[in-house]
Amino acid sequence: MTYKVEMRHITKIFGTLYANDDVTLQVKQGEIHALLGENGAGKSTLMSVLFGLYHQEQGDILIDGSPVEIKNPNDANRLGIGMVHQHFKLVESFTVLDNIILGAEDTQNGIIQYEQATKKLQHLIQTYKLHVDLHAYIKDITVGQQQRVEILKMLYRDADILIFDEPTAVLTPQEIHELMNIMRGFAKEGKTIMLITHKLNEIKAVADVCTVLRRGKKIGTVNVKDTSIETLAEMMVGREVSFTVEKPDMERGESIFEVEHLNVSGHGRHAVKDVSFKLHRGEILGIAGIDGNGQTELIHALTGLKPIISGKATLMGSDITHLPIRQKYQKGMSHIPEDRQKHGVVMDFDLQSNLILQNYYQPQFQKHAFLKFDVIQDHADELINRFDIRSERGPKTIVRQMSGGNQQKAILGREISRAHELLIAVQPTRGLDVGAIEYIHAQLISERNQQKAVLLISLELEEIMNLSDRILVMYEGEIVGELDPKKTTVNELGLYMSGAKRGGVHE
Ligand SMILES: Nc1ncnc2c1ncn2[C@@H]1O[C@H](COP(=O)(O)OP(=O)(O)OP(=O)(O)O)[C@@H](O)[C@H]1O
Ligand SMILES: [Mg+2]
Repeated sequence: MTYKVEMRHITKIFGTLYANDDVTLQVKQGEIHALLGENGAGKSTLMSVLFGLYHQEQGDILIDGSPVEIKNPNDANRLGIGMVHQHFKLVESFTVLDNIILGAEDTQNGIIQYEQATKKLQHLIQTYKLHVDLHAYIKDITVGQQQRVEILKMLYRDADILIFDEPTAVLTPQEIHELMNIMRGFAKEGKTIMLITHKLNEIKAVADVCTVLRRGKKIGTVNVKDTSIETLAEMMVGREVSFTVEKPDMERGESIFEVEHLNVSGHGRHAVKDVSFKLHRGEILGIAGIDGNGQTELIHALTGLKPIISGKATLMGSDITHLPIRQKYQKGMSHIPEDRQKHGVVMDFDLQSNLILQNYYQPQFQKHAFLKFDVIQDHADELINRFDIRSERGPKTIVRQMSGGNQQKAILGREISRAHELLIAVQPTRGLDVGAIEYIHAQLISERNQQKAVLLISLELEEIMNLSDRILVMYEGEIVGELDPKKTTVNELGLYMSGAKRGGVHE
């Protein structure tokens, strides 16, 4: 039989690391083929080889049964291959339209033919319900809309082999639902889809077939219908994974973080309105809400990434409202930021430097203005071991070359290991594999058990429900309810999140 896409015995080596080791992948036309594997297993690499971003050391690629040479993404485009990357590749200061046609401009006498492009795009937008304003600037639209731009970019180039690298990691449940429908529509039309995701229930929901990679090697390809979530997880990590979180009952301690009547602006409007809450030792306080209801602005204001209009924040008795970021950290705050590449790491620094970003100036790491590189390296080695941060060159790896999930583990390791009393964790498991999620969840619970205070912001309802001792719901910038996870259901939580219900807030 002829496959739409066939990758035979692909080996891709970075330095000494076999990112892909003799991987064979066969994908039929009209199939939704999931690619599953731990962080750093080689999924993005394999798809980057198919898209011409990397060239394999060994192995062949066949499209419709014929061997092809894919030297760069232009070759891939010509073969009908499109890719939505794990971290979008859009020009923030360009409009949606300019981003889509960039590199595929149709010109006449040197003038871009916008009219034709717009017409074709309007048609695609209608057909696939990918609504987005063509004249808006990328920096002004939501992440969900940016993703639609990336999808339109592929369709504009007439791609019929569509690669999605973790497309749902940044989407709301509603947007995920829409995307799944869009994918099903593509498949029905005969387009071939490769889907990388860590969410096993998404694979169950849309994929026909799933190939599992582990440490660069192919473990197997299975029919999704006949395979349980537990089996998929076990194939992926090589051991059984527990999906429930062990959480002992605990008395919460004194309140150490107090937020009073906080107001913050954002995107030209009032993003956070009169928010007050108290957070106690030995407690995980979850903040639930649909993306864009002020959570980001709230956290940016509390952590010093954004100014506060009015209100007050007190940590361990000190007023930290307007303190510079460094001093907030010194007062005992740790922060796992929402956007790991923008606020969590310096992409072109090596791993060991990234692990001391907030305390490189302290005597532990510095003497007479000279960094103690041996200490810094030992410190990195310790965190690498403890948090299982995988990379090619250990402490010396440039963070840009690490897989997305491992960048996240590095930030987690740094923030949890630094002296702190309050941990603000925003989407701490975004992009992590199920094994790593299990580990991170255990770490957050252990923070709580050690009498730290944890503020957890997540779009994943299950994560909020399983970990939190108390849940606050944010809607249109306000706290509209306080819920006890033991006494509430996901449905009820959903009602608060959509603004259909409101309730009292205690403390
Ligand atoms: N440009 C590069 N240079 C050196 N090493 C790299 C490069 N890109 C990836 N790697 C390494 O190759 C391995 C596979 O990375 P890849 O990004 O394919 O993983 P992944 O399966 O997509 O993981 P994740 O789920 O975390 O996104 C990782 O160990 C990574 O550090
Ligand atoms: Mg990846």
